[in-house]
Amino acid sequence: MEHHPETELVHGGRPQGPGSTLNHPVVLNSTYRAGGPRGYGRSGNETWDALEEVVGALEGGEAVAFASGIAAVTAVLDQVPPGGAVVASKPIYMGSWGQLEERAAQGRIAVRWVDMTDTAAVLEAARGAALIWVETPSNPTLEIFDIAAICAGREPGTRVAVDGTFTSPLLQRPLELGADVVVHSATTLIGGHADLLLGVAVGDAALAEAMRTHRTDYGAVPGSLEAFLALRGLRTLAVRLERAQANAAALAAMLEAHPQVTRVLYPGLPGHPGHALAARQMAGFGTMLSFEVAGPPERATAVCQSVEVFGHATSLGGVESLLEHRGAKDWERRMGTPEGLIRVSAGIEHPDDLVRDLAQAIDRACAG
Ligand SMILES: Cc1ncc(COP(=O)(O)O)c(C=O)c1O
Repeated sequence: MEHHPETELVHGGRPQGPGSTLNHPVVLNSTYRAGGPRGYGRSGNETWDALEEVVGALEGGEAVAFASGIAAVTAVLDQVPPGGAVVASKPIYMGSWGQLEERAAQGRIAVRWVDMTDTAAVLEAARGAALIWVETPSNPTLEIFDIAAICAGREPGTRVAVDGTFTSPLLQRPLELGADVVVHSATTLIGGHADLLLGVAVGDAALAEAMRTHRTDYGAVPGSLEAFLALRGLRTLAVRLERAQANAAALAAMLEAHPQVTRVLYPGLPGHPGHALAARQMAGFGTMLSFEVAGPPERATAVCQSVEVFGHATSLGGVESLLEHRGAKDWERRMGTPEGLIRVSAGIEHPDDLVRDLAQAIDRACAG
């Protein structure tokens, strides 16, 4: 029977049959007795399989779990042949940008940076390219890119990879929109509790096999406990997302009305340039937003230091709301992120507490 994704993520990946454990156990094991389908623990593990089964079903492909999100990114970028061209946008997640810059500097690939909101420019730049790297919504400026249009217009030999970390498999299904591969930092929304590092990449059988081989050969294997925890986190993703998205919308509304806030970046706001596309492409506007306050960039640091409910920390997608003066980071400046930009990850606390806390932090920082 076909299930809704919300049901699949609760029931998928569980052992079946009388007497079986309801949860997949944490299999702590490095090798297998000879003669069976498995040999060495670096090539596969039953707990990884359980997580991969659920993520693969949600995305509509074959999932491969990695030690971290950036390991999944690496496995995808390593599929680009020597000298191949990659089309990408800035700003994006600093680790992906850093890898692209470094690979280009080493002469391993060529990178063509584009404004990815301009689909025609993307397709023009993608002539003869090996890969288009689409991070949407982008980190940390929440730009929205048209996955379906990019996929429909690219040349047959050009792969499209989507970093779906800000959406999770529940809010956006890039493979259905024509992409070849989707990657997630499962450290964030999938795990949901800031207690693990893990990544997942999902593609068709051939690409998944190539990524599994990459994982085995280069060794970015997830821990079994991390895979177990990621699957446990995934079980509650639908309800966490519901609350966190509502909280993000409430925060965005408060920020838009705040006299000291000069800009709010949240795809759920009707004034966001990607709003209509996000409404079409995503099943919700997500849990991430960014904003700027009036005055010098140091004020943004002061806002982050004045919160009482939010955590002042990097990362995202957990039950706890976090914020960070992202624009202060050297790499963000190099990518063109506004200096005063504050990035917010909405958690699942009571909305009133979050709205009040952020408003008082802004008031305090701007008064001081
Ligand atoms: C969009 C995006 N992609 C990839 C990553 C890397 O994931 P990880 O920290 O799990 O390596 C992150 C981390 O926050 C991210 O935000």
